Amino acid sequence: MKIAVLYGGTSGEREVSLSTGKGIIKALKNKGHDVTGIDFNPEKLDEILQLNVDLVFLGLHGKHGEDGKVQGLLDMLEIPYVGSGVLASALAMDKSKSKQIFANNGILTAKSKSFHQDHYKDQNEIASQIRSAFTLPFVIKPNQEGSTLGLTIVKKEEQIKPAIEKALLSDPVVLVEDYISGREVTVPVVGSQGNEKALPIIEIIPKNDYYDFDSKYQPGGSEHIVPANIEQALTVRLQAEAIQAHQLLGCNVYSRVDFIINEEQEPIILEVNTLPGMTPTSLFPDSAQIIGWSYDDLIEQFVMLSCE
Ligand code: DAL
Ligand code: MG
Repeated sequence: MKIAVLYGGTSGEREVSLSTGKGIIKALKNKGHDVTGIDFNPEKLDEILQLNVDLVFLGLHGKHGEDGKVQGLLDMLEIPYVGSGVLASALAMDKSKSKQIFANNGILTAKSKSFHQDHYKDQNEIASQIRSAFTLPFVIKPNQEGSTLGLTIVKKEEQIKPAIEKALLSDPVVLVEDYISGREVTVPVVGSQGNEKALPIIEIIPKNDYYDFDSKYQPGGSEHIVPANIEQALTVRLQAEAIQAHQLLGCNVYSRVDFIINEEQEPIILEVNTLPGMTPTSLFPDSAQIIGWSYDDLIEQFVMLSCE
């Protein structure tokens, strides 16, 4: 097939996407496809308009890539692409909106509140509202961002203001969540709509305090235990809730659903990633390996599901 891979992009996760894109391009070539890689930015729109391909593979992460905007552009151009469509992508990228959907459907989420900077006089007012609504420790993060960029686990009062400032660099909406202490796990989901299956669960043991940017992308930055050593009933629940979350947002072909298992042994959903990382240190390919799919097989599987 003639496939264009869009990668790079302009989001904070550009570097991650360059790595994801490189992996996807290599895999598609290994599978015999005719591949064009495009480091995507708005100036390349002409190139996209001229594309004469059978399929676009999105290797983008974060804003203007994972959030439905590029998907909308491709829909208008009637160019088929791999993965979730506009609405699912936009909902998944908006952590506050997707958490409301999960909570309304019985999936446990951390207590949270979002603060749009335009609705407050200044950052001091946001800080004071946060102080009255939450008790330490809690998490301050941008509502729309990935790879833990802009995230602070706030353990001390004096961290609140710098954490708000940091989060606002990525997004005008700050999301504050109760800090959930527990085991961090993630569940890859693959399949056409209505026929999804969950792959083996991965537990993440970061070398740093938590699974931050360096733990995610530095070789050896974290240990991935797959399949995670989790008792059967909880494994079944995590996999079922991952598929449920994927379906509630209307995702397609693949996603990766992140959870914390709290001290009461309950899964607390963090988010659904509609274009999860496919870098050499990423989680999804490690899980696929366990069921006998190489990285190249996994990418080919996504292509085949997108052509059904
Ligand atoms: N946002 C990064 C790429 C991930 O979820 O894997
Ligand atoms: Mg993410």
